[in-house]
Amino acid sequence: MKILLLGASGLLGSAFKKVLTDSAHILFSPARAELDILDETSLLEYTEEHSPDLVINCVAYTNVDLAETERDKSYLLNAKAIEHLVSLQIPLINFSTDYVFDYGLETGEISENYKRTGVNYYGKTKLEGERVLETSEINFWNIRTSWLFGPGGKNFVSTILKSSETRDELKVVADQYGRPTYAPDLAQFVAENFIEKEEVPCGHYHLQNTGPRVSWAEFAEHFLKLKNWPGTLIQISTSQYPTAAKRPQNSVLANTKLESEMRDWREAVADYLGID
Ligand SMILES: NC(=O)c1ccc[n+]([C@@H]2O[C@H](COP(=O)([O-])OP(=O)(O)OC[C@H]3O[C@@H](n4cnc5c(N)ncnc54)[C@H](OP(=O)(O)O)[C@@H]3O)[C@@H](O)[C@H]2O)c1
Repeated sequence: MKILLLGASGLLGSAFKKVLTDSAHILFSPARAELDILDETSLLEYTEEHSPDLVINCVAYTNVDLAETERDKSYLLNAKAIEHLVSLQIPLINFSTDYVFDYGLETGEISENYKRTGVNYYGKTKLEGERVLETSEINFWNIRTSWLFGPGGKNFVSTILKSSETRDELKVVADQYGRPTYAPDLAQFVAENFIEKEEVPCGHYHLQNTGPRVSWAEFAEHFLKLKNWPGTLIQISTSQYPTAAKRPQNSVLANTKLESEMRDWREAVADYLGID
């Protein structure tokens, strides 16, 4: 299969690039300078020249706090760009987020068809992108994930580990819960369960690593302990850590559609940190 991977320099995109470079598929992974997803004409010309059978879209505007003020940029990349992709009429694997929901812990795990509202502007633009897919006539698989970490870009684990090198006390939010997702695991899982398998029904899917639900503070405690950090982690509440964009209290997604599951996030963290 000929696959066009967009956003290959990002956290998830770089994981896909690694997985697909090692596969039997022919991969095109143009950098933004070569193919700007906001340039509809270039997108059309590029796909006419290379005729991919599948597009994997890992492009997004992901600065959640800045999205509150840079609204146009967020809308263009997360919603308008999906219109461009849909107009290509090529099957599409797209990624979205738990931020399209806004639920408390009493809801439990959030299933694929729960009511969406968008917890913040970023979430609302990602939801807009989902609606574009739903009203299109192309084959699409929209995979919602959350709490991504991995080697391909700045993320919660890398940020906390960096801070821990110079500080003996760290404050981390303890009243928002989720399940971390290792970008290389997600890319591998999607390759095996969506790209290599035929006739996976189109629609929305929820994918996270499995394992226990944790707060950000519990997650940080887990990997800081593995790194033998000698400092003190102080649990704080969301109200003690104000951010421009509201965050969901509940980021725990239920995968009710696929039989196979990703591995426990604790195994993935150990791999990421290079610990046996
Ligand atoms: N990160 C998370 O915790 C998280 C959680 C839930 C869902 N998601 C979703 O997962 C997907 C991947 O997220 P990520 O964190 O891997 O994103 P990311 O690291 O921010 O990467 C975004 C990618 O988009 C590219 N890009 C930006 N503007 C572009 C343009 N105009 N044309 C072409 N490429 C452009 C960037 O290229 P440059 O390198 O040139 O900027 C980069 O490769 C997104 O759909 C996101 O919403 C992420």
